[in-house]
Amino acid sequence: MKKSQNSPYNIQAASERIGKLRQLIIDYRYRYHVLDESTMSEAAADSLKHELAQLEAQFPELITPDSPTQQVAGEPLPGFSQVRHSQRMLSLNDVFNRDEVVAWVERVNKQLPNQQLEYFADVKMDGLACALIYEDGEFKQAVTRGDGFVGEDVTMNVRTIDSVPLQLRQVKGYEAFLQGRTEIRGEIVIYKEDFERLNKQRAEEDKPLYANPRNLAAGSIRQLDPKLAAERPLRFRAYDLLRADTSEVPTNAFAYEALRALGVAASAEATVFHTVDAIMDFAETWDTKRHNLPFNTDGLVVKLNDRRLFVELGVVGKAPRAAIAYKYAAEEATTIIKDIVISIGRTGAATPVAVFNPVVVAGSTVQHASLHNADEIARKDIRVGDTVVIFKAGDIIPQVLKVLIELRPKQTRAFDMEAELARQYPELSFTRPEGEVVYRVEGATSTLLLAKALEHFASKGALDIDGLGEKNVVALVDAGLVHDMADIYTLTKAQIIELERFAELSTNNLVAAIEAVKKPQLPRFIFGLGIRHVGSQTAIDLAEAFGSLEALSEATFEETLAIDGVGQVVAESIVAWFADDDNQAMLKKFAALGVQPVYESRAKGPLHGKNFVITGSLETMGRDIAAEKIRALGGTFQSSIGKDTDYLVVGANVGAGKLAKAAKLGTTQISETELIKMLELS
Ligand code: IVH
Repeated sequence: MKKSQNSPYNIQAASERIGKLRQLIIDYRYRYHVLDESTMSEAAADSLKHELAQLEAQFPELITPDSPTQQVAGEPLPGFSQVRHSQRMLSLNDVFNRDEVVAWVERVNKQLPNQQLEYFADVKMDGLACALIYEDGEFKQAVTRGDGFVGEDVTMNVRTIDSVPLQLRQVKGYEAFLQGRTEIRGEIVIYKEDFERLNKQRAEEDKPLYANPRNLAAGSIRQLDPKLAAERPLRFRAYDLLRADTSEVPTNAFAYEALRALGVAASAEATVFHTVDAIMDFAETWDTKRHNLPFNTDGLVVKLNDRRLFVELGVVGKAPRAAIAYKYAAEEATTIIKDIVISIGRTGAATPVAVFNPVVVAGSTVQHASLHNADEIARKDIRVGDTVVIFKAGDIIPQVLKVLIELRPKQTRAFDMEAELARQYPELSFTRPEGEVVYRVEGATSTLLLAKALEHFASKGALDIDGLGEKNVVALVDAGLVHDMADIYTLTKAQIIELERFAELSTNNLVAAIEAVKKPQLPRFIFGLGIRHVGSQTAIDLAEAFGSLEALSEATFEETLAIDGVGQVVAESIVAWFADDDNQAMLKKFAALGVQPVYESRAKGPLHGKNFVITGSLETMGRDIAAEKIRALGGTFQSSIGKDTDYLVVGANVGAGKLAKAAKLGTTQISETELIKMLELS
C-alpha cells in the first residue's frame, strides 16, 4: 500500500480521515453560514481545514471538486431574494507573521517596479460583511456577501440599524457621491459590551446564551422579521466605497475620509504606512490594544493605498493580490491525542497529561496539556486517538477544551486511570482518598518525597553539593526552608545557622558549595531533576541532543524518542515531567534565581561515537570513575553490551556468558590497561 512521506496515513486511512474532515467542515460551515449556529470556534474549524488541506496536498489524488478546500462560501437562505453584486465581494488571503507580510510586500513591489508604494492598514472587524446601496444619496438596498457574486437582500433588516444613515450627508467636496449609485461596504457588528449585557439578561431569564457577537449579528440580519433585527444592538462600520467611475475614489485613505464625511462610521484607527516596520509596529500595538476595542477583531487588513493598483494586480481565486489579512495568533487549534502519560508530582499526586501532535496555539507550539485528574478525563471522555480542540487564552496554560467526537477512530478505549497507573508505575501503589479526585503514591508524604528529591539533586552524580546529605536535607525540609529543589538557591547564611545541625564553618561551607553550582553542568542538572528513568547516561544523551534546558523542555515526544537509548517509557516519562505545572514553575524559579546549566558539547571529544561496556571489576578505579572518564572524553558508557558497543573492557572475575556474547557480536575486547592507555592518550 502506498504511504506518503511525512504522513502517518496510508492512502486508505487518509481517504477515511479526509472524508470525515470534509463532512465535519461542511456541516460546520452550513450551520455557521446558513443557520448562524456555532458548533465550534472559527479557529478550531480553520485548524481542521488546515489538516484537510495538508492531507490533500500529500494525497492529491484524493481531491474532489466538492471538498471544502475547493469551495468559497455557503448558499443564500431561501427566504430572501437574491441580488447580484455590482462588483464581486472578495475575501482576503490570510498571513500570520512578519515573514509573510514581508513576502507579500516583496511580491507586490516586484509586480509594480519603480513605484513608491503606500500601504493602508485597518483593524479587521469580526462581523457580517454587507453592501449598502445608495441612489442619489438615499439608502436603497442592503445585500449580504453570499458567495461573493450573489448575496441576499436584507434591506428591511439593515434599515433598522441606527448607524446606517437613510440619507448620506451633504458635505462640500463630496457632492459627487450624492449623485447616482454609491455603494458602501462594511461590517455589521455587535459590540462586546452590548453582547455581554444581552447574555446577562438571557441568563437571568434562564434562556440559552448566545455563542458570540458575530453569530448574533449574522443571525439577527438573516432572519425574516425586521422587528427582531431592530431590537438587537447592531452597528455598521464601513471599509469600502465604490463608484462606477473608479477615479472618484483614488485611495483607500480618501475612501475612509469620504465615508466619514458622508455620515458613515469608518475606523479612525486606519493609517497609511510606507514600510514593513511601520506596518508591523501597528500590528503589534493593536495585538494588545485590540482587547480595548468595542468589537471583536482577529487581525488587521493591509491593502495598497492606491486603488488603481487593485485592478492592475488582479485577483487570485477569491482574493485580490493588492490586500492581505494579517491574523493574530488563534487561541484555539485542533490536534490528535497520541498518548496519555501520568506524571507524579512532588507531593506524590498522579496527574494525567495528554501528549499530542505539536500545534501552534496563541503563537506558541504546544504538545501537551494537563488533564488534571481521572474525573475530568471521564467528563470530557478524552481518549488516545481523539481529535481535540486545544484552547489557550493569552499566556494561560493550554487546556483540552473538548473532543470532536465525530472524528473518533473506531476501537478506542475509555481512559482507565488505575490500569494506566499499574502499567506506567508497576513498582508503586496508589490510593485515592475518600472524596478526593486525585490518586496519590501510597505511603508517601510530601516531606518524604521532597527530602528524597533534594538528596538526589545534591548527590555526587548530580550537583554534588557537599553538606547536603540526608540528615541536613531533612533538617532544611522540616524547618520549612525549602519546598522544591530551586529553593536550595534561596538559602541564606542567617537561615541555615539557625538550625541545630549547623555551626559557623559548616554554614559557610554549605553556602559556598551552593554558590559554586549556580552554573552546573547540564547533564548533571538534568540527572539531578530526578525524572523517572533518566539516569546519568540518558541525561548526557539528552544534553547532547538538545544542548540546553529550554530546548529539552520544548522537545517533542518524537524528538525525545529519536535519541539512541530512549525508548517509549523513558520518552513518556520525560514529556510528562516537563508537562507538569509544578515542574514548570520550578524551572522558572531556577531561571529567576540565576541558575544556568551550561553545556559544552562532547561531540568533539576524542572518544566521541565510541560506546564502552565494562564487565567484571577493575583494579585501579571504580566503575563510576571509569564511566566518568570515558564520558569526559566524549565516549558513551553503556550498562549492557549491544550491537553498537565498540569496546568491552574486561576486568577481573568475568562470567563466560558476557564474553561469549561479545564474541558473537564481534565487539572488540580490551583489558583495563588498554583502557587506561586509551584514556591517557586521548
Ligand atoms: S477591506 C477585498 N477592511 O474581512 C476585500 N475588510 O477577510 C477588502 N473586514 O471581506 C476588504 N474588517 O468582510 C476590509 N477594516 C476592514 C475589514 C474588512 C473586516 C472583512 C470583510 C472582508 C473580510 C476579508
